[in-house]
Amino acid sequence: MYKPLSIVLGVALLASLGLVAATASARSDVRTGSDAQVAVLLPDSKSSVRWETQDRRFLAAAFRAAGVTYSIVNAENDRQRQRAQAEQALTNGAKVILLVNLDSGSGAAIEALAAARGAKTIDYDRLTLKGRAAYYVSFNNAAVGRLQGQGLVACLKASGAYSKKPVIAQLHGSPTDNNATLFRQGYQSVLNPLFKNGTFKKGPDQAVPEWDNQKALTIFEQMLARTSNKIDGVAAANDGLGNAAISALKARKLKQIPVTGQDATAQGVQNVIAGDQCMTVYKAIKAEANAAAKLAISLIKGTKPAGVNGKTFDGRRQVPSVLLTPVSITKRNYKILFTDGFLKRGEVCRGAYAKFCK
Ligand code: BGC
Repeated sequence: MYKPLSIVLGVALLASLGLVAATASARSDVRTGSDAQVAVLLPDSKSSVRWETQDRRFLAAAFRAAGVTYSIVNAENDRQRQRAQAEQALTNGAKVILLVNLDSGSGAAIEALAAARGAKTIDYDRLTLKGRAAYYVSFNNAAVGRLQGQGLVACLKASGAYSKKPVIAQLHGSPTDNNATLFRQGYQSVLNPLFKNGTFKKGPDQAVPEWDNQKALTIFEQMLARTSNKIDGVAAANDGLGNAAISALKARKLKQIPVTGQDATAQGVQNVIAGDQCMTVYKAIKAEANAAAKLAISLIKGTKPAGVNGKTFDGRRQVPSVLLTPVSITKRNYKILFTDGFLKRGEVCRGAYAKFCK
């Protein structure tokens, strides 16, 4: 439709040769038109697999269904690269940029650039503080954190550790991600009163720069070393950070303790069903992508926006927002991820994990 036939044939050929993975790893959507009306700027592919495995496909599907041309690129955690991607998209005539910022400063600069070129921006998933986005589309992120805190408490009760003054460690997300601040506020609203009244003991507490899973592993290893392995539960802000803690515990041959997560990644859910992880949080990315796509289309067409259900203060302005509701996932309800088409059973229930799926 928006691409030369040779590309279509090339893609069909690659697919028939089983080489679609190779195209996907090129990190630019194959259905992109160089004249894309909407440009999606994803942040990276390592801090969470969600961006490439979920957001990309659901956003692509939403724009395709609406007949809007789009491009989806990934900055791989490089601010200059994200800026260049924004410039390129604007040069190609983008009317709307869906931005997942790498920090508020660089995000606000991209939004100013877009405004100067007559384009609109939507903060996708991460709020840009003091930015200019027309809309913010995300989940109730403080609620995500509360689910993590409540999940941790429930798991500590189930294991009997709750009444033994457990030491709770915290692995926060990137300090430059406003979401990480909200997740932290959420789980600390549950944990802090329990530290205060002496039910729990506050253990080591650290933010993981850029959500880097490798750094999280080192940080958690140091936490174990400092406490002589005396950590009884971990509030980890997403599945990647949770998995880092789980790997460090396994490497020291320590017993399973409740560890939280978020994103309902295949690995996170495997950890949950194996009992290595207490819970994860399912954020229905399909709904998030659809909500963002609808707003993008209304900005392009000048029609009335749909779905706005609140406002979010960005430090200067109230940004009209769509905030969706997160769902806690445990061993008991993980199958909703399959029925919802979020994960395939085969991605989770395989190899050593097959025996945990009944
Ligand atoms: C997102 C999470 C994700 C994290 C790391 C946050 O802004 O809301 O879903 O795990 O970034 O990419």
